[in-house]
Amino acid sequence: MAEPKQTGTEVSEAQIAVHWKEEETYQPASSFIAQANLTDSNVLERYGLDNFPNCFKEYADLLDWYEYWHTTLDHSKPPYWKWFVGGKLNACYNCVDRHLPKYKNKTALHFVPEPEEERIEHITFQELYVRVNEFAALLRDFAGLKRGDRVTLHMPMTVDLPITMLACARLGVIHSQVFSGFSGKACADRIVDSQSRVLITEDAYYRGGKLIDHKEKADIAVAEAEKEGQKVDKVLIWQRYPGKYSAETPTVEGRDFFVNDVLKNYKRAVVEPERMLSEEVLFLMYTSGTTGKPKGAQHSIGGYMAYVTGTSKFIQDIHPEDVYWCMADIGWITGHSYIVYGPLALAASSVIFEGVPTHPDAGRPWRVAEELDVNIFHTSPTAIRALRRVGPDEPAKYNYDFKHMTTVGEPIEPEVWRWYYNVVGKKKAVIVDTWWQTETGGFLCSTVPALHAMKPGSAGPGVPGIHPIIFDDDGKPLPAGCGKAGNICIQNPWPGLMQTIWGDDERFVSQYYRRYCKNPDSKDWRDWPYFAGDGAVEAPDGYFRILGRIDDVINVAGHRLGTKELESAALMVSEVGEAAVVPVADPIKGKIPHVFVSLKPGIPASKEIEQSITDKLASEIGPIAKPGRVWIVPDMPKTRSGKIMRRVLAAVANKQDTGDTTTLANPDVVEKIKQLA
Ligand code: WT7
Repeated sequence: MAEPKQTGTEVSEAQIAVHWKEEETYQPASSFIAQANLTDSNVLERYGLDNFPNCFKEYADLLDWYEYWHTTLDHSKPPYWKWFVGGKLNACYNCVDRHLPKYKNKTALHFVPEPEEERIEHITFQELYVRVNEFAALLRDFAGLKRGDRVTLHMPMTVDLPITMLACARLGVIHSQVFSGFSGKACADRIVDSQSRVLITEDAYYRGGKLIDHKEKADIAVAEAEKEGQKVDKVLIWQRYPGKYSAETPTVEGRDFFVNDVLKNYKRAVVEPERMLSEEVLFLMYTSGTTGKPKGAQHSIGGYMAYVTGTSKFIQDIHPEDVYWCMADIGWITGHSYIVYGPLALAASSVIFEGVPTHPDAGRPWRVAEELDVNIFHTSPTAIRALRRVGPDEPAKYNYDFKHMTTVGEPIEPEVWRWYYNVVGKKKAVIVDTWWQTETGGFLCSTVPALHAMKPGSAGPGVPGIHPIIFDDDGKPLPAGCGKAGNICIQNPWPGLMQTIWGDDERFVSQYYRRYCKNPDSKDWRDWPYFAGDGAVEAPDGYFRILGRIDDVINVAGHRLGTKELESAALMVSEVGEAAVVPVADPIKGKIPHVFVSLKPGIPASKEIEQSITDKLASEIGPIAKPGRVWIVPDMPKTRSGKIMRRVLAAVANKQDTGDTTTLANPDVVEKIKQLA
């Protein structure tokens, strides 16, 4: 008998999908259509495969180039695609300098501190220009950073973060921002992989009403990185309150420097933007994979900037007059593409919110929206579920006016979608459900908001220029409307796609291309579909519904955590013999990890061991990795070849039928585990 597939843990999501209503659609409001950037109903044909890759010229033409490119797409070495070859540009120039003649007095960034008594800060494009130049001068002359160097950022949501990113981009320095909620150890791993000798951090930030000491993580990061062989010689510390140190952790003489002190030497400095090749690297964004080691998605300058600017304009419908609020964290790709680079390239006013959406109460986001007159709002199903649970009637109390809203990061349940539409959007705002990934730089599937009907729970067709296809496990295409789920792939390359995994070309090819490559010797891009790693179904009308990850990745509140990373952290607790992590449905976070462990022989189960496993996951990875439950089991259910059957554990944890367990080497253990439930 064939061994049951290890990937069966996603069965629950497929079942939910079957019960979702397919036929229900909503039309965009005429007031939205009247002002939309993209209303040409031929757009999907214009961006059809016949017109590939030249269709993307339109995106690149949204940018200013020092030198125009000569080749739209060089596909001579698949799957290493090169976009806009021969072109030269600077991302910072495109987000800041070029807007000065028209918009210097317009707000570029609104910084909303978490404490409500602190006033919102409005940074104009002129001020952003001054601050970015001064900091770029500091990075170059004080920190000694130059074109091509990597620098790790471990910064919270303040304006200092986009200023730092843009200053790096100005110099051609490759930034690698690590989500501030991640531990010092997680930061260290990314410092080592990217070989950064400078770490940029912030002393403190507010989260849920507390001013958190963030600098202490920098000390751990530097110490751990050094153990792994990477020396950090400078730590640059922004101050949450300039001129005042808000952390308890002492500073280290000769290594730690307060940015605000050093900046005094660079008053009104002006740094010429580097003329970067389209194919040079803008940033690295680490994401979890199926092995323990995080992988650095490497994003280009020309292709990435063109793609995020184009999709910000056509899918986010951003105009320069708009006040745009994406409530994600800049520490994730969403923030890079759709808080910083895309909106600023279009001269929008982009909101940066420091805090927790439900703090001090679930009315906070709507007060911010009212005060700033936000008209485009962008968040995740997790945030929507939380706001809906604690404050279902809050939005109606506030006088804001959204034209457009986005949901991103995981599948949204139609019930939650409808609350978003009816209550948050007041039955007027369009919604786009954007499916994409850290690796893809920008959106893959979404409706074009003025052109397509919305369908709750479905992302929509491929966005212009993106041609998805679903393959079954044997590589046979599953046509629209066939009712079967399969592996969603993209038939063509596109400018926003990462260039490779930093320092690991082999992993890039094997993870994203090997599975469905038609001919490894082919130079034709048609033979190289991009394998996204998500399960999906295509409806008869060509809308894609994403069902979730097919590999061993758990999507908690829109953040991806590799099961292997979690398991290896659990195994660091000395009593633990084996560990298996499975996703369990959670009404707020979508999925939450449960950890199953068997203890080393002779060690009795205890609450203390459970606690130390929880603590270990939080300290190794971050609080986001805290398990919903730690199960200490007498033994792991295993196949005869010794593989842990995560499918069985997931069924128990999700209170589902464990199915056929007769092929297990130790079927009787399943009953014992069930008794723990
Ligand atoms: C994974 C990518 C996209 C930026 C934030 C997360 C899931 C993402 C959707 C959506 C259903 C979605 C997929 C994808 N996902 N957007 N609209 N509907 N699922 O980026 O951490 O790289 O995670 O998130 O499973 O592969 P990420």
